[in-house]
Amino acid sequence: MMENKGTPIVILNFKTYLESTGEKALKLAKSCQNVAEETGVNMMVAPQYGDIYRISQEVEIPVLAQHIDPVDAGGHTGSVLPECVKEAGAVGTLINHSEQRMQLFNIDAAIKKAFSLGMSSVVCTNNIETSTAAATLNPDFVAIEPPELIGSGIPVSQAEPEIVEKTVEMIHNINPQVRVLCGAGISTGDDLKAAIDLGSEGVLLASGIILADDPQKALLDLVSKI
Ligand code: G3P
Repeated sequence: MMENKGTPIVILNFKTYLESTGEKALKLAKSCQNVAEETGVNMMVAPQYGDIYRISQEVEIPVLAQHIDPVDAGGHTGSVLPECVKEAGAVGTLINHSEQRMQLFNIDAAIKKAFSLGMSSVVCTNNIETSTAAATLNPDFVAIEPPELIGSGIPVSQAEPEIVEKTVEMIHNINPQVRVLCGAGISTGDDLKAAIDLGSEGVLLASGIILADDPQKALLDLVSKI
């Protein structure tokens, strides 16, 4: 994944909001690209599957899938074949998002599958213990997101700084190669700054930007303190 070293990673998860679907998804991805160009921040987008191809054709910033199924080609109707999202233009994927939880053996298989295809893996976790467990599976990133704060507008980096700090410490003890992100309730420049100060390399966020009156302005505010 192309990256500006030394600046944070900001992954905008489009989830299934209408405000980040279809034409609006494309517009949002272009706003993310504008902000990346203006500020040097590593903006990445995770649109719905049906929007991956169009978005990846129109922007240069990394496009991630929101999930993959660790299935091989063949008879798996309705599954998300990793090769398919890769061919559509995704260079990485979220795995085990709180809204798309997976069993441990499937998380492991999905990370391996992503790795074998040259795709980055971002494993989402709900607490320090699962973050530590996820780190042993060698993903590129672990993103700690306490589920009770998701969509709440209460930023994890300010409301529960010890969770982020401890996750960074535990993961770096276990597997220093794994990079740590955090998410849930993040929307302002202070939230992102707090996340970075706690040792996280960036954030994963959604509603604070997607539902803002002016998402591009909200993104600029988000990156204004770093
Ligand atoms: O994947 C990002 C996430 O679950 C956080 O959502 O709406 O609290 O920023 P939100």
